Amino acid sequence: MNVIFLGPPGAGKGTQAVRVCERLGIPQISTGDILRKAIKNQTPTGLAAKSYIDKGELVPDSVVIDIVKERLAQPDCANGYVLDGFPRTVFQAEALAEFATIDAVIDIEVSDEKLIDRLSGRRVCGTCGATSHVSVITGDTCDKCGGTWIQRDDDKAETVLSRLKVYHAQTAPLISFYTEKGLLRRIDGTQPVDVCLNEILSTLGVA
Ligand code: AP5
Repeated sequence: MNVIFLGPPGAGKGTQAVRVCERLGIPQISTGDILRKAIKNQTPTGLAAKSYIDKGELVPDSVVIDIVKERLAQPDCANGYVLDGFPRTVFQAEALAEFATIDAVIDIEVSDEKLIDRLSGRRVCGTCGATSHVSVITGDTCDKCGGTWIQRDDDKAETVLSRLKVYHAQTAPLISFYTEKGLLRRIDGTQPVDVCLNEILSTLGVA
């Protein structure tokens, strides 16, 4: 099953994608994670992407389309995958349709007000990449691996506002794009994580 997770920054795409992929035994393909890894490793792609990500802007379509096309050609994608954070523009969606067949698009919906709170309180484990929130973190270190919790550079207040603006202008049009194709499934992302997960699995017919 080939699934897209759509939704604004902080809606819970990554949180749910990890769980759905674990359940279905398919890979999670997060363009954000791939780009952050490229920045860390100072690859040419990472160096090109950094200035866009730092400003909360989208990395050019051509760069991310090439990344995803190459990733989907890997053998572990043969039985399905979850695309987390791609496509993000109509141009990317049209390009994707040339090299992939999508079965469902999960749109996780959360208001801007809640998103700002979620993103400013989000912490990511610097070692294993697990995501959590200051409201539920109890110790100084990640409970999965003991790594240190860090704040993503683009979760700082001014960058968050710019990411939300970019989402509404460039990514939200994908809601009608995929509705017209009969693929869109809406999920209320303000519900508890497990409730969202069950709804997603049920709408995918794999509960
Ligand atoms: P990316 O890493 O994809 O960021 P994003 O889409 O902005 O999404 P986030 O990772 O911020 O949020 P999420 O929806 O995954 O939420 P999460 O589960 O973490 O992209 C980063 C940048 O890379 C972009 O700005 C852009 O520059 C570039 N980029 C990436 N893809 C691109 C593309 N295709 N084209 C061009 N540029 C691209 O949850 C957030 C918080 O909420 C956490 O603290 C979590 O614990 C909490 N939470 C989650 N679910 C719940 C719940 N149900 N209830 C309460 N709290 C919850």
